[in-house]
Amino acid sequence: MSKKNIIIEPDPILRKKSENLEKVDDDLRKLMDEMLETMYQAPGIGLAAVQIGILKRLIVIDISKSEEEKKPLFLVNPIITFKSKETSVYEEGCLSLPGHFAEIERPSECQINYLDYNGKEKKLKADGLLSTCIQHEIDHLNGVLFIDYLSKLKKDMIIKKLIKQKKEIEKIVI
Ligand code: NI
Repeated sequence: MSKKNIIIEPDPILRKKSENLEKVDDDLRKLMDEMLETMYQAPGIGLAAVQIGILKRLIVIDISKSEEEKKPLFLVNPIITFKSKETSVYEEGCLSLPGHFAEIERPSECQINYLDYNGKEKKLKADGLLSTCIQHEIDHLNGVLFIDYLSKLKKDMIIKKLIKQKKEIEKIVI
């Protein structure tokens, strides 16, 4: 199975809105498997298709710790149907913002409707880290990154550092 390259901010594709998928078939399952593998190898706990350059509403998540049994979650066309008024704060990171973390406040609970790995309609009620992770990934499908919740000053500082990081990587490659 091939590992995909993860797109790093700043990149205009990360700001685009992803489109709904029409059906869940073997080709899509192959893509879901590749995304999961890419996420595990990174390593990360969530990955949206846009992060590998595919503007489709598809997410893979696994918040289980590495020692435990893997519990992958595949979300096709996820829709948030409920967000709690109560909020919680987690220190978030993102595979498209390597090395950067920030405390982000989000609704502590959410409910979603989605299609699973087999194309079956599902509902899920999430809280804790899973709720935060789902909201972070659905943001990706709408072109939103966690740094968008920070002050302009903090956000600009992170983007500047990412541009510098990208230049360093280019130098090494050359
Ligand atoms: Ni992310």
